[in-house]
Amino acid sequence: MNVTMEVANQLKSVRPRKAVLEMPEYHPPLAGREALRLDFNENTFEPSPRVMERLLAITAEGLTKYPEREPVERIVAAHFGLQAEQVLLTNGVDEAIHLLCATFLEAEDEALVWTPSFFMYDVSVQMMTPHLRKVQSDATLAFPVERFMAGITERTKLIIVASPNNPTGAVVSREHLLAIAAAAPQAVLMVDEAYYHFHGESTIGDVSTVPNLIVARTFSKAYGLASLRIGLLAGNAKLLKYVRKVSSPYNVNGVALDCLPVAIADEEYVAWYADQVRVGRERMMEGLRGLGVPFFPSQANFVLMNIGSKHKELVAAMRAHGVLLRGRSADPGCAGFVRITIGVEEHVTRGLAALKATLSEIGWSKQQVSELAGQQVSDGEREFE
Ligand SMILES: Cc1ncc(COP(=O)(O)O)c(C=O)c1O
Repeated sequence: MNVTMEVANQLKSVRPRKAVLEMPEYHPPLAGREALRLDFNENTFEPSPRVMERLLAITAEGLTKYPEREPVERIVAAHFGLQAEQVLLTNGVDEAIHLLCATFLEAEDEALVWTPSFFMYDVSVQMMTPHLRKVQSDATLAFPVERFMAGITERTKLIIVASPNNPTGAVVSREHLLAIAAAAPQAVLMVDEAYYHFHGESTIGDVSTVPNLIVARTFSKAYGLASLRIGLLAGNAKLLKYVRKVSSPYNVNGVALDCLPVAIADEEYVAWYADQVRVGRERMMEGLRGLGVPFFPSQANFVLMNIGSKHKELVAAMRAHGVLLRGRSADPGCAGFVRITIGVEEHVTRGLAALKATLSEIGWSKQQVSELAGQQVSDGEREFE
């Protein structure tokens, strides 16, 4: 027997947990993104110039140290009018979701989500428990509040709601979110506010009075720091103490921690970027109306379009024009849908011009939209982001 075979034989007795074998895989389609990035809902431009200055001031000696999260948590907490114990910095909201699942879900517990939504919820929940309840939107893709509330059981231990939601751009009112928290006192409600800046309504002001509410924010979108990987959880200090136990003390790297205080201090920059998106979003929706493309009204930095049977052709043809889009057909209830990110003015202009040229090139017509209505691709084929 050669060495390779011997090693393979030995490995047969090593198995991951059953939940790991059964959980879905995360495959972000990140190859070949040297084009206009209207595919991942990132900031399409650049972060505050103050962040770049801070980056250049980082010393070689500074890189030798383990990062200190706590002083930066104090600064971030003060920015939100919270106590330091009410804030936990994380390696992006992706890690925050992972930590919440690892902290609060036993294998027999249930988690509750709304679909279509962000696929990392499925991945992280199913790492802990197979009992993921999904409440599907109807064809409007609006939040199905009554059916969602009816999905809460005494076994529900974690509820995750994104507002604005990805990939739909739909929002959930504060009133409904507070009603969900009140209806499930045995569960943690995580409100994912990754796209907060493009909408402006938040429940972060409620974390001191609603004991089971935890709000997540990211610095990957409006702040333009996706590559640094920074997010946060804001919530009840007692709940976050448990999450802190599960988190590595060095989960956020020192470069990110150095940059975060200057990024949040430059409020003018974030307000400018959010404004670019809000204006651009109106222009995009107006443009789509003009082109006859059905879409879902959005409160985020993207718009979900209903292209129909030529959805793949559109994504490929746009790539050939140097513009990246994301096909969302594999999301539940989204057959034929394609998402376009809204960025700064120039990028919206280029995106719209390419869309106009491409739709005509592929011979798109509104009739093709109804051809896919009601079809669904299986969960296993889904892409992520
Ligand atoms: C709803 C939602 N939450 C969280 C994230 C991930 O954020 P982060 O980059 O902080 O991990 C995304 C990214 O697309 C998202 O759409």
